[in-house]
Amino acid sequence: MGKDSLSITDNRTGKSYEVPVENGTIKALDLRKIKLTDDDFGLMTYDPAFTNTAACKSRITFIDGDRGVLNYRGYPIEQLAERSNYLETAYLILNGELPAKAQYEDWIRETTHHTIVHENIKELMAAFRYDAHPMGILMSTVAALSTFYPDAKHIHDAENRQRQVVRLIAKMPTLAAFAYRHSVGMPYAYPDNDFSYCGNFLQMMFKMTELKYRVHPILERALEVLFILHADHEQNCSTSAMRGVASSEVDPYSATAAAIAALYGPLHGGANEMVLRMLHEIGSKDHIPQFIKDVKESGGEVRLMGFGHRVYKNYDPRAKIIKIMADQVFEVTGRNPLLDIALELERIALSDEYFVKRKLYPNVDFYSGLIYQAMGFPVDMFPVLFAIPRVSGWLAQWAEMLQDKEQKIARPRQVYLGQPRRDYVPFDARG
Ligand code: ACO
Repeated sequence: MGKDSLSITDNRTGKSYEVPVENGTIKALDLRKIKLTDDDFGLMTYDPAFTNTAACKSRITFIDGDRGVLNYRGYPIEQLAERSNYLETAYLILNGELPAKAQYEDWIRETTHHTIVHENIKELMAAFRYDAHPMGILMSTVAALSTFYPDAKHIHDAENRQRQVVRLIAKMPTLAAFAYRHSVGMPYAYPDNDFSYCGNFLQMMFKMTELKYRVHPILERALEVLFILHADHEQNCSTSAMRGVASSEVDPYSATAAAIAALYGPLHGGANEMVLRMLHEIGSKDHIPQFIKDVKESGGEVRLMGFGHRVYKNYDPRAKIIKIMADQVFEVTGRNPLLDIALELERIALSDEYFVKRKLYPNVDFYSGLIYQAMGFPVDMFPVLFAIPRVSGWLAQWAEMLQDKEQKIARPRQVYLGQPRRDYVPFDARG
């Protein structure tokens, strides 16, 4: 084994440099000493979309994209999906260890007793148009929470941070269900402490005039599993947004609203909604070959939504679990007719040279929407269903960043290719 360093020769100057290698990385700042002249700024790396840049050290989530591995705090996602529930997993993600019994009970009590939102939030929601997208409502109301809890700006106080963590995790299902009920013109159903986290969310979504909503245990469990699978995914687009925005030391509600905005996009958490719209548009199995042809000939413009991933170059392990769970859900709800189109689409894509060559496999969003739809969630709610559990991951990453002495306000560099300095030209002298 050689030294843990990299020898670099700058062919522009003939000078050689030694740069330490740590954890399979070099520090970008170590390249700054590579200069053409003494007053040169020094070498930078150019990495649009951060495809090969680690922006932090983290101990939360591990992904091996080539092998299809996903672990939270070392625990394989398959074991958590089988044996844990969402709140326990959220505790693990946030605190680093599975809770002891007393810690678990405390955590459940805390998150159950902070589910109610200020009545003014309802008035805020009432201002949205009847057909407002629930993700837009959720984003705005989470941002608004920063005005209800101004104490949240004391982000360096660990006890205070914990208070905001409990509030956000507890209130997300309430805000999400209220956003939905606003969009369908139904009176809001208030939280009910008799239910589990997921059971309560289901009753706030679907309760009608009955005195007590009855949650189907299989659907409740399916939601727990879906929430576990979506709880964290290391430095994805929305988590980077959370870290980037929070690095300015803004309160966690404002930073979470930014993360929700990032998640809303069709290339990220909006993909599950787009998958359903795509399956509807394809309409029948006979149209799949033409659709695949369109994708291949579009030069990247038409995408097979729910396929491909920046990190996974193998089957997304979450998609595997969801696909198995779909059968259990469909036994209760009846089979989603779009499933046959999805299965055939997957079969054809996985044997097609275009997808095979690019290592495009189904991701978490490919099958999740089919389950959500079968459970009665409208398509608009899909990204919201992603945001609810992802809050635990965002908050864990936020707290980790705040305690990391190597972190400071995020501020990338650029390669400036614009005009050099020039003088202002008055109107009458312009060409
Ligand atoms: N359908 C068709 N072609 C695709 C797809 C797709 N879904 N995804 C990638 N490709 C192609 C690209 O056109 C590109 O082809 P080229 O090399 O001929 O130019 C190649 O595969 C590589 O794609 P990139 O866009 O460079 O890959 P990147 O890592 O930047 O993108 C992403 C990853 C955004 C997830 C992409 O695969 C995609 O758009 N998928 C569809 C949207 C989706 O499902 N998003 C959810 C992701 S999971 C999540 O956020 C929870």
